[in-house]
Amino acid sequence: MKRLNTVLAVLVATLAMSTTAARAQAGDATKGERVFVTQCKACHTLERDGASVAGPNLYGIMARRSGTARGYGYSEAMRRFAIEWNDQTLAGYLRDPKGDMPGTKMVFAGIRRPDQLADLIAYLKEATR
Ligand code: HEC
Repeated sequence: MKRLNTVLAVLVATLAMSTTAARAQAGDATKGERVFVTQCKACHTLERDGASVAGPNLYGIMARRSGTARGYGYSEAMRRFAIEWNDQTLAGYLRDPKGDMPGTKMVFAGIRRPDQLADLIAYLKEATR
């Protein structure tokens, strides 16, 4: 019986961890807004026809091809990269911009915390469509 209890406890703990992981993966847009405001807003706008400031306007970024905001002068690295932005490609770039895309002119150290990254991407999805 004691053994069974231990097995059950481990099972419950594993389940609890996997739901936490699932939640982190889905991302919390409200928390993501804070990440955007503190780490991205100085250089990016999100709304339709928003200005390209230091960085390009990000309206419609999901499923947009990289380096294609009208009227913005991208680095050659970004133009050549030619990928479609989605959860995976955004996470890769925002985790480590220069490592992911050598030669990008986005001066940003990257977001290492997976939960912050997921929250930010959840917010970007909502705020750029
Ligand atoms: C210091 C200014 C700066 C900050 C801070 C910054 N960016 Fe950028 N961002 C840029 C620049 C400049 C580019 C263009 C890069 C290039 O051409 O290589 C860019 C490009 C991008 C792109 C590609 C856009 C496209 O049209 O393909 C995305 C997505 C992006 N940034 C998201 C973010 C997010 C999200 C954050 C916050 C975590 C952030 N950036 C923080 C300046 C910045």
